[in-house]
Parts: sequence; structure tokens; C-alpha cells
Amino acid sequence: MAKEKKTTMKELIAGLNADLQGEFNAIISYLTYSAKVTGPYRPQLVSFLQTEIPDEQMHAQYLADKIASLGGEPAVTPKPVPQSNDAREMLKFIYEAEAETVENYKVRRTQAEELGETALQVQLEDMINDETRHRDEVKKILDGWA
Ligand SMILES: [Fe+2]
Ligand SMILES: [Fe+2]
Repeated sequence: MAKEKKTTMKELIAGLNADLQGEFNAIISYLTYSAKVTGPYRPQLVSFLQTEIPDEQMHAQYLADKIASLGGEPAVTPKPVPQSNDAREMLKFIYEAEAETVENYKVRRTQAEELGETALQVQLEDMINDETRHRDEVKKILDGWA
């Protein structure tokens, strides 16, 4: 059986840059959706969306710092933000993005471990915790939508 190829540092940096673009996407999504959202749940949704922004900003800052420390060039463009004028659809987009982020960070965590980047591995575990909480909160809002 062929030995599995180990992750290279180049692959890890490319992955972290994709993650950084995802964090930029989250910041822009939460900021613009909170501006646009209408309907009877607007007050709660504005507050909910804006409360998430500092978490995502800290994730973005951490990733940019780490990419630079590892010798990479931090991305400066976001993953494209899907547009919507419908509150429920905005939350559906957010749920999908958070769920994808959790899975991406699990992959990144394994890559960091393979390369012996223990501090990064631990930080990614912390970020998996944050994103899982975001994902599950959005799911609860969607599950009970009247
Ligand atoms: Fe995040
Ligand atoms: Fe998040």
C-alpha cells in the first residue's frame, strides 16, 4: 500500500488563506445582512449578526498573522458573499458557511498536526469550537422559524 502523502507547508498556507477568505466572507455577510435584514425579527437578527462579527474578526486576524509567520502572503479578497433580501435565506447562507467552516478547520487541524504546528492546531480547535457554536445557534433559529 502506498504511503499517504504528508501535507506540505505550501498546502497548509494555501488552506489557511482559503480559510482567511472565508472569515472575510463571514465578516462581510454579518455586516451587510444586519444592515439589510427586514421583517418582524429584525431587532433580534441585527443584534445576533453584529454580535458574531468580533469573533470572526479575531479569527481573520489570527489567520493573517499565522500565514505571515509561516512565510505566506495573507489573502486580501473575500470568498464571494451570496446576496439576499430575505431574512430566512440570509440565515440559510450563514448556516451553510458556518457548517463548511467547521469542516475546513477540521482538515486544517489535521494538516497542522502533521506538520508539527501544535500552537496552530490548538488554535484551530478553539476556532472549531466557536464556529460550531455559531452553526448550532443559526440552526436553532432556522428550525423554529414560523
Ligand atoms: Fe470565524
Ligand atoms: Fe463563525
